[in-house]
Amino acid sequence: MQASIKHVAIIMDGNGRWASQRRRPRLWGHVRGASIVSDIVEASDKLGVKALTLYAFSTENWSRPLEEITGLVKILNKFLIKERQRLIKNKVAFKVIGDTSHLNSEIKKLIKDLELETKDFNGLKLSFAFSYGARKEIIDTINNWIVNNPNKKITEQEFAQGLYRSEAGDVDLLIRTGGDFRISNFLLWQIAYAELFFTETKWPDFSVAEYNKIINSVAHRERRFGAIHSMPSLDDTQRLAKQHINQI
Ligand code: FPP
Repeated sequence: MQASIKHVAIIMDGNGRWASQRRRPRLWGHVRGASIVSDIVEASDKLGVKALTLYAFSTENWSRPLEEITGLVKILNKFLIKERQRLIKNKVAFKVIGDTSHLNSEIKKLIKDLELETKDFNGLKLSFAFSYGARKEIIDTINNWIVNNPNKKITEQEFAQGLYRSEAGDVDLLIRTGGDFRISNFLLWQIAYAELFFTETKWPDFSVAEYNKIINSVAHRERRFGAIHSMPSLDDTQRLAKQHINQI
């Protein structure tokens, strides 16, 4: 049975090393990396992916040299201006997940305007994780719950609904470029049952062709979600488990 890949998350790693190998500043790697983002967004739509979450800047990345941080913020700013019309034309529902409070007011407005303009689109749910950390997302979710539901225990379903972009759902496939085998505090709750794919390719060299190949290879992997035979989704597995529990 083919697994359906509805939500893809990507750790776009290797920009710095890619640039250093070419004796260019690290920022050049990020610039080149940003230039392929739109192609991957469009390819996702064509592949039938419903949600794409890209790790653009982690909470830990604030410790990088100031020049690199301001460069990354400028890249995001430029992307929002340059790609705005294309995203709108393709009915992409855009959102930034993470703590944007430290960004300047111009970029905050660009983000907010695009989020508002695209929020009801039914195309790809595109999320940029910017100043994002999964542990913080988990703690924020719990703290919001406590404030709104004092003295009430939280269920898994209620927790999932409180995450930054709950409608994107669980991640089916996590791709990390750049050759490292780490999760780096990315979507820790959402990847519980994700297929993981690590490629040596550094992000600026990543291509639609490699992306297609990964999706195809993973779509043919058997996903069991804890059962012994292939299951279409985690929901189906949980439904079957409940039936069995009630019969014994
Ligand atoms: C990791 O590479 C990558 C990042 C910290 C930033 C990723 C950002 C982009 C690809 C550009 C952002 C795009 C948009 C449109 C906002 P690294 O610097 O850690 O690479 P290294 O492991 O080789 O040092």
